[in-house]
Amino acid sequence: MKSSDPYAATDKLDDSLLQVIVTRLEARAKHPLFEKMLQDYLHAMQIDTAKTVLDIGCGTGVAARAIARRRGFSGRVLGIDLSPVLSQTAAQLAAGEGLDNRVEFRPGDSRKLDLADGAFDAVVAHTLLSHVDDPLGKPRASFGPVE
Ligand SMILES: C[S@@+](CC[C@H](N)C(=O)[O-])C[C@H]1O[C@@H](n2cnc3c(N)ncnc32)[C@H](O)[C@@H]1O
Repeated sequence: MKSSDPYAATDKLDDSLLQVIVTRLEARAKHPLFEKMLQDYLHAMQIDTAKTVLDIGCGTGVAARAIARRRGFSGRVLGIDLSPVLSQTAAQLAAGEGLDNRVEFRPGDSRKLDLADGAFDAVVAHTLLSHVDDPLGKPRASFGPVE
């Protein structure tokens, strides 16, 4: 079944819809409950001990910037999003906050990341999974039936 969720197809949306998403994600990030929820779990996962963090489905980079801003965090964050427009917007917002030496953004699909296993100390997927059809992607050949 095809998803009708716009967040699942941000690589195909037109610019006007993407601007609505940018506004929505940035507004949501400023809600005190949402801010607290994010900070609570970053604290619980001891994010400050990580030197390398991957933020998958980063959108406008809300979580990546929140991590980079943390006083105790001295590592780097790579944000990846399905939408080239959103990942570019994320880079601009991070640069606007002077965080561009700590965060980097790229377009990409969480189901086929070109990243080595174990390359990151921590991975964040903030409100991503419910928007991904088949989040585990195609099973690897090594997980197939043994012959
Ligand atoms: C609800 S938004 C959350 C964005 C951001 N994490 C936040 O909390 O503000 C979901 C994001 O996941 C991205 N996304 C959806 N499917 C994806 C996939 N397969 N791989 C990477 N990103 C994906 C969308 O482009 C969108 O930016």
